[in-house]
Amino acid sequence: MTDQKKLSDLTWREFKKLSLVEKGGYFQGDPPHTLIAQQFTRAKLEELCTLATKIKRINKRRDGANFLKTLLSDKRAMLYFAQPSSRTYLSHNAACQILGLDTMDVRDTKTSSEVKGESPEDTIRTFSSYVDMIIMRHPTGGFAERVAWMLAHTNREIPVLNAGSGSDQHPTQALLDIYTLERSFEKTGGIDGKHVMFVGDLLRGRTVRSLAWMLSLYTDMTLYFVAPEPLQIGQDILDLLDQAGTKYVVTDDFSSVMPLADAIYMTRIQDEWDADGESSTIDTSAFGIGAEHMDVIKDTTVIMHPLPRRKEISTDIDNDPRAVYWRQMRNGMWIRAALILTTFGRQDEVNRYYDDYKPEA
Ligand code: CP
Repeated sequence: MTDQKKLSDLTWREFKKLSLVEKGGYFQGDPPHTLIAQQFTRAKLEELCTLATKIKRINKRRDGANFLKTLLSDKRAMLYFAQPSSRTYLSHNAACQILGLDTMDVRDTKTSSEVKGESPEDTIRTFSSYVDMIIMRHPTGGFAERVAWMLAHTNREIPVLNAGSGSDQHPTQALLDIYTLERSFEKTGGIDGKHVMFVGDLLRGRTVRSLAWMLSLYTDMTLYFVAPEPLQIGQDILDLLDQAGTKYVVTDDFSSVMPLADAIYMTRIQDEWDADGESSTIDTSAFGIGAEHMDVIKDTTVIMHPLPRRKEISTDIDNDPRAVYWRQMRNGMWIRAALILTTFGRQDEVNRYYDDYKPEA
C-alpha cells in the first residue's frame, strides 16, 4: 500500500505554498496529471522515450496500427486550447487518433459559453462531464494546476495534461525535446555530459523553462543561456539548477560559445507577452543561426527549435543533417502518445505486443 499524496487532501492555499518539486508529488496519483516539468524523474523520462519508440515502430505496420487503435477506444479527450497552437494541438490530436481516443475541442473561447460569463473553472468542469481527459493550453500561468486541483475536489477527477500555460510551463514540449536529444545522442553516449545551449527569448520561453529543469536530471550537463540581457532566463530557473548541482553559463555572446554546443535550442521572441511593444526595442540580430555558422559549430551539433520560428533560424540550413527541428516536431506525436497511454496505465499492452512481434526499427 503506497501513501500517494492526494490533491484532494489540500486546500488551494496549502497547495499554492508548495515548491514545484513538492507539487509534482501530488500529480502522480490516480488519475495522474501532467502539469509541470518538475514532476518528472529521469526513470519516467526514459520509460516514456522507450515507449514512444515502440509505439512508432508498431504503428509502421497496418496490423500494428490497428492494434494501437484498440488501446484507448473506450476513452474520449477534450482539447481545450485558449491560446493559438499548430503543433501542440495537432500532435496531441494525432496521438489520440493513434491510440483510438475520440477527441472534441474548443480552440477559441469565443465559441464556448465563456462569452456568456461562465468562468474558465466551470467551463472545464463542464468538459469533465463528457470526456476522460483534458488536454489544455491557457494564457494564465498555473491555471492547469488550478484545474487539476479543482477537479480533485469533484466526483469526476480526470487527468489534465498541460499543453502550455502562461509563460511558465510547457512540459509536453520538454518531453519531446528530451526524446529528440535522446535519439540524437543515441550513438554518442546519450544526454549525460552534453553541452546544451538555449538561445533567444529565455525570459518568456516556457519550453526553455521546462526543458532546462528536465535536463538537470541528467549528469554532468552544462547549460548555456544565451540572450540579450532583458530576455535572459529567470533567476527562479537558475536557483533550481543550483539546487540540482547543474552547471550553467549565462551570456549574451552567442558567437563565442557556439562552437562548444552539442545542442543549440533556438527560440523566437515571445512578443505576445509584451505590455507595450518593448521587444521591438531590443537588438536580437546576434541571436540567430544561418549558413555562415555551419562551419563554426561541431559536425555532431544538433540544432533544435520548438517552432514556430521567425528569422532566428535561416531556412538555408533546413536541409543540413544537423537541423533536427522538423524531426523534433514529429517526435512530439510519438512521445505524446506514450504519455497519454501511461496516463491511462495501458503501456503494458504495448510492451507485450512489442516483445511478441519485435517490429523492425
Ligand atoms: N511548440 C509549440 O508549442 O508550437 P505550437 O504553439 O504551434 O503548438
